[in-house]
Amino acid sequence: MSDTSPVPAYVRTPQAAFLASLGVDRELARFDLAGSVAHVEMLGHVGILAPGEVASLRGGLRAVAREIALGSFPWRPELEDVHTNIEVRLTDLVGPVGGKLHTARSRNDQVAVDERLYLRSAVARVAAALVRLEERLLAKAGAEAERPMPGYTHLQRAQPVTVGHLLLAHFWQFDRDLDRLFATAARSNVSPLGAGALAGSTLPIDPSDTAGRLGFERAFENSIDAVSDRDPFAELLFDLALLAVHASGLGEEVVLFASKEFGFVARTPALGSGSSLMPQKRNPDVAELVRGKAGRTVGDLVALLTTLKGLPLAYDRDLQEDKAPVLDAIATSLAVLEALASVVEGLEFDPVRLGAAAADPELYATDVAERRVAGGAPFRATHESLARSYAAGAHPEVEPSGTAPDPARALAARSTAGGPSPTAVRRQLSLARARLDARVASLSSLDRAVGRIEELLTEDRG
Ligand code: ARG
Repeated sequence: MSDTSPVPAYVRTPQAAFLASLGVDRELARFDLAGSVAHVEMLGHVGILAPGEVASLRGGLRAVAREIALGSFPWRPELEDVHTNIEVRLTDLVGPVGGKLHTARSRNDQVAVDERLYLRSAVARVAAALVRLEERLLAKAGAEAERPMPGYTHLQRAQPVTVGHLLLAHFWQFDRDLDRLFATAARSNVSPLGAGALAGSTLPIDPSDTAGRLGFERAFENSIDAVSDRDPFAELLFDLALLAVHASGLGEEVVLFASKEFGFVARTPALGSGSSLMPQKRNPDVAELVRGKAGRTVGDLVALLTTLKGLPLAYDRDLQEDKAPVLDAIATSLAVLEALASVVEGLEFDPVRLGAAAADPELYATDVAERRVAGGAPFRATHESLARSYAAGAHPEVEPSGTAPDPARALAARSTAGGPSPTAVRRQLSLARARLDARVASLSSLDRAVGRIEELLTEDRG
């Protein structure tokens, strides 16, 4: 057994460097190895490989996994991709039986299964980071549940809400993001392995066997679809792009609220760094960068959709371009979620500035109108007469007693379900808590499926 087998003929071309994908797809190595262990075990199960061959191949694949984990794997860029690197190294380690690994398999179904295993684990990582952010939002919303603040539409002061109510609005956006990620993982829970290049095999392989070993719900229905389908990556990128859009909105509010003009939150180091020139500056640049990174993630989605558009079925080499945007969007999302969680945790609301803003009588114009309506006045006429008063600079009495506006009383009166009254916000907090607990349970079952990879690569099952 030589230490450096020759470069296989199928990857020899003057344009090898152009075709190479190793720089990107080596991130898929553990998934590729797990897929190979499942494939080898299936080949043994159906009698294509002898038990001794299965044992050598599986042992060799696990040895390769250890080399990769330790950083001692001899990556060879001239071998084009992760798949060929692993197969060639396996053959160096176990000898000619290594040449049987790729029996009844193509890199087309191989890369497709790698990607679905990667997606499952990537969703689990992003979901865990989202849960950590949502925990921070819930904690802050609980602490600030009843603190009055102006609610804005068109970025103009509109009606009173509470800080907790606003933070919970962000919670529900992120809860839907989590739901979408789990749904994406569930829809992609189908194994493409066994589709071969596009038309299955003449050998008696069993795709449902490998599907089961890898923890998939089932095998593909159509071998052409199986090697072509990149919907899981497209959905994942959409989920991450919308998540990034949501994160950017929260980032923007933090930026606004940390300005001297609003002054609702303190400009603490948790929000960012200072200026190299202006000694007085303390910038909210963590929140700004959370906002800015959304451009990149949205770009990743557009990049993939553009690559996929107009491709004939089944595998086309264009599909090799699918991985870089996904890996980039996953890394970006994880970084953004961690940064945003620490921003939320570090938010220090200014009671004086918020109190003054919440006492603005104009916030209660609708309340005044509704008091008159409750007394029997028609709404439209009341609205018109109040609009004339406010336009003339007059401030009709918010409190029947004629005293200054009492935000706490006004908020308690907004008692409709899902609204900002303290009672409704407390109820909302407990709904949010229960929802997050349920998501954490879904995440544990996803984590168990992700654990199949490590089991295949380490378990000694003879
Ligand atoms: N590097 C390829 C990709 O990422 C692997 C599949 C190659 N298949 C092929 N027929 N050349 O898509």
